Amino acid sequence: MSERFTIRPATTADLGMIADSLVAGLSTYRGWTPIGWNPPARTEMLIGLLQRFPRDGSWAHIAFEGSAPAGHVSLRPDRDDADEQRADVALLTQLFVREQYWGSGLAAELNAIGREDMVQRGFSSGRLLVARAHRRARAFYEREGWRATGEHETSGELGLELAEYVLDLS
Ligand SMILES: CC(C)(COP(=O)(O)OP(=O)(O)OC[C@H]1O[C@@H](n2cnc3c(N)ncnc32)[C@H](O)[C@@H]1OP(=O)(O)O)[C@@H](O)C(=O)NCCC(=O)NCCS
Repeated sequence: MSERFTIRPATTADLGMIADSLVAGLSTYRGWTPIGWNPPARTEMLIGLLQRFPRDGSWAHIAFEGSAPAGHVSLRPDRDDADEQRADVALLTQLFVREQYWGSGLAAELNAIGREDMVQRGFSSGRLLVARAHRRARAFYEREGWRATGEHETSGELGLELAEYVLDLS
């Protein structure tokens, strides 16, 4: 654990800061998305978080440098196509680090915390979806042991193709 960042469990009171990180992180996607692509509006994302977070089993950790929000990781039990909970699989829903902390090791630290949580909570594997064209994030997850399954899907919310990754926890 680094001494630079303070990381603690997030509560619903942190969802505004989390929405800010989503806006900041998704705005960086303009570096590789087609011209004219824009992230969803902050209000839309915050409403989604406020609706889902308390109800779908989500949990998260939020990181600070001093009092400045630096990033977060969030997870929840995965659900299948019929919207039934998959008891043994956790979905890493977000891992976002503010751009000034890219390359600092914070993302790896948050990933490790998420991994440890999944193990502690009895999940046998993790799953995530990442934008297919997001080379930095894909390289990051591959370095951290996640494996691309080759499956893809389209996110209507983001208007982006997503690639599926899994992490074996056994
Ligand atoms: C994705 C994210 C969490 C990764 O954190 P990070 O601090 O940037 O990651 P790191 O610097 O530790 O690792 C990035 C890796 O990608 C590599 N990389 C950077 N740009 C790259 C590119 N264009 N193509 C391929 N690899 C690239 C780096 O070299 C590094 O790999 P290495 O350590 O093996 O050299 C962070 O960039 C982020 O928050 N982005 C915005 C939000 C986001 O997209 N989150 C993921 C959505 S699921």
